[in-house]
Amino acid sequence: MTTLYEGAFAKLNLTLDVLGKRDDGYHDLKSVMQTVSVRDDVQIDVGTGKPWTLSCTLEGIPADERNLAWKAAKVYLDAIGEDPDGLAIRITKRIPAQAGMGGGSADAAAVLRALNRHYGDPLSILALAELGAQVGSDVPFCTLCGTAMVEGRGERLRSLPGLPDCFFVICKPDFSVSTPELYRKIDEKQIPRRPDHQAMESAILAGDLGKICENIYNVFDPIVTEEHLELNYIKSIFNSYGSVAQQMTGSGSAVFAIVPSFEYAAVICNMLKENYPQVFIAKPV
Ligand code: C5P
Repeated sequence: MTTLYEGAFAKLNLTLDVLGKRDDGYHDLKSVMQTVSVRDDVQIDVGTGKPWTLSCTLEGIPADERNLAWKAAKVYLDAIGEDPDGLAIRITKRIPAQAGMGGGSADAAAVLRALNRHYGDPLSILALAELGAQVGSDVPFCTLCGTAMVEGRGERLRSLPGLPDCFFVICKPDFSVSTPELYRKIDEKQIPRRPDHQAMESAILAGDLGKICENIYNVFDPIVTEEHLELNYIKSIFNSYGSVAQQMTGSGSAVFAIVPSFEYAAVICNMLKENYPQVFIAKPV
């Protein structure tokens, strides 16, 4: 038996635009995504000689074939035609669930990377990301990591240069948002403002943090904020204590701030942690 270890990094959407509904019921998106240092740890025993198992330190996460990490293992092994003679997947969870931070997708992506390494890297990272699209919309990006322009349902990826030095503060409020419901709502609305992806890409290419912050925008943010004014409260704390940009990630409900130094991040974290147990300080990775 061999044990594999892999980090599973959370993602943030620096921008998110919904371009339209597709024939398959999903939506075409355009998003600049970024992986951050909030991470789960994935451990896989290969060759246990027993039926597959999955365990997770967080209750309420499915611990069977419904889990994206399990699905990823299945999809990968089918693709390369290998039988591992039993797998035991263990996930140490830190990424909050129902946050828009791609927690389940990050775990699935970690499984893809770990198994691919175990079998001698038969698939390139892009082929692995493509395989990830069969598991979930955010899995391709979570497989690639870094900073990327993501399009289609999430399967078209283009790597961008890394962000300039900065810190994120991420706060996950107690409430959660149903992703399919949010997509239904956005279908019924005119989107009044959209991110400027050309400006964002230029800012990232120039390494200009000020301009990157000016261009952070998620079309879901006003829709969720309208129903949960609490997001405005969190953003006002961010803003009062040195954040240069604040926005919800994905379909929420986590919101993040970008700050120029750890000192600002620590102050914001202290201000929020009494009311919000799930506050994180993170770096881009
Ligand atoms: O892929 P994921 O499980 O994150 O998607 C959850 C739900 O969000 C989908 O069932 C779909 O209703 C909606 N969705 C969408 N278009 C996308 C991604 C998600 O409509 N590109």
